[in-house]
Amino acid sequence: ENESTVSITVVGASGDLAKKKIFPALFALYYEGCLPEHFTIYGYARSKMTDAELRNMVSKTLTCRIDKRENCGEKMDEFLKRCFYHSGQYDSGENFAQLDKKLKEHEGGRVSNRLFYLSIPPNIFIDAVKCASTAASSGIGWTRVIVEKPFGRDSESSAALTKALKQYLNEDQIFRIDHYLGKELVENLSVLRFSNLIFEPLWSRQFIRSVQLIFSEDFGTEGRGGYFDHYGIIRDIMQNHLLQILALFAMETPVSLDAEDIRNEKVNLCELSTEVKVLRSMRPLRLEDVVIGQYKSHTKGGVTYPAYTDDNTVPKDSLTPTFAAAALFIDNARWDGVPFLMKAGKALHNKRAEIRVQFRHVPGNLYNRKFGTDLDQATNELVIRVQPDEAIYLKINNKVPGLGMRLDRSNLNLHYADRYSKEIPDAYERLLLDAIEGERRLFIRSDELDAAWSLFTPVLAELEEKKIIPEYYPYGSRGPVGAHYLAARYNVRWGDLG
Ligand code: BG6
Repeated sequence: ENESTVSITVVGASGDLAKKKIFPALFALYYEGCLPEHFTIYGYARSKMTDAELRNMVSKTLTCRIDKRENCGEKMDEFLKRCFYHSGQYDSGENFAQLDKKLKEHEGGRVSNRLFYLSIPPNIFIDAVKCASTAASSGIGWTRVIVEKPFGRDSESSAALTKALKQYLNEDQIFRIDHYLGKELVENLSVLRFSNLIFEPLWSRQFIRSVQLIFSEDFGTEGRGGYFDHYGIIRDIMQNHLLQILALFAMETPVSLDAEDIRNEKVNLCELSTEVKVLRSMRPLRLEDVVIGQYKSHTKGGVTYPAYTDDNTVPKDSLTPTFAAAALFIDNARWDGVPFLMKAGKALHNKRAEIRVQFRHVPGNLYNRKFGTDLDQATNELVIRVQPDEAIYLKINNKVPGLGMRLDRSNLNLHYADRYSKEIPDAYERLLLDAIEGERRLFIRSDELDAAWSLFTPVLAELEEKKIIPEYYPYGSRGPVGAHYLAARYNVRWGDLG
């Protein structure tokens, strides 16, 4: 019997991420016919639940992305029948052994491939890995473990976590997820750069004046204050999501599209080359290049929005930043002197993630000379809007039609909703599918993680030691003004302010 099965165990099945992202993504993969013929999904968590209760819980989160899709209800029923629940402690070898027994029954003697998704808090991570990996060692197929951030709080704790994980798993079994790498427009970044002639020749300090990576959310930490207060926005968003985008944006052309070639370009000192790759060419972030903020309560239209510290799980005197702006630099021939500005915040005026590439002025621009156009307004800007309402647009100068000569800044616009009728898959769908297929390109390697931490660890320690007080900004605002001063110090303006 050489047929194989895949068992997917979601450890932490009753958590937020499992409900909001993991089960719906698995269903979407099932709906699209991307899951193998023989598969079983297990939810694992501490609470007591029957299979029927788990199915009921999961069913509430499933959607067929486009309404009225064919057989959606039928497909959901089929999918739910493949979902089971096992209640156990995260540190109990015995409980995982019971799971192993159940999985074996489903596998029915076929080659067993097992994927564990650890969607649990980091303090119970290692115990669960230990138990999950021993339970899985009895199978003869592959065993892979997807782990979610936070991967530590700084270089030291991250290294300890890596070391502990390696006691139980090989690096090729560990899939460190950064879901931003699964986003459609982040994936597209390399296509844009490496399969069009017109961008790559301009992709350097010679033509680019600044690169901005902007993340904003229009809601606060809502219910996640306990987790968030221990980490803060720099660890939650910058050190991973924004830095990964930066690495893909700024890296040199990889040798090929293979996972190791791409990941080498992002981080590694290639054994045969003296070329220092992009993350290792970066200077650790300095305190003077960071602005931090925290949201305070704000009343608008009769509604009072809470302060960060109004959350019961957050200490009243917390200095944890819910907003940060930072300027990072890559000391290599391509990027020397170009500020990479990052901005990330919660409880701001909108929800958005975008990359803004600001080009230099046209030297000796005839039109500026004649019409005195505002130099800053007249430079080109390429915007890659990762979400929502995905788009890529290029701001260009254009003549306003008519007998006169007036210039206008307009957009060459690739708006996904107009161009493509297909729905964009959720990041977790792509990443889960890749993990099932053993494709590692979009997952974070341990040396990459080390490099990422080394950029942020010193400044995080300094912020905490010196108890730097965040600039308070009203819930729903554009964030602290300090972010403007930071950009101005490098002679740029944030592109998202219009
Ligand atoms: C997570 C952060 O990694 O990303 C959250 O922990 C944040 O704080 C989330 O809300 C944002 O993801 P997305 O896909 O909704 O932009």
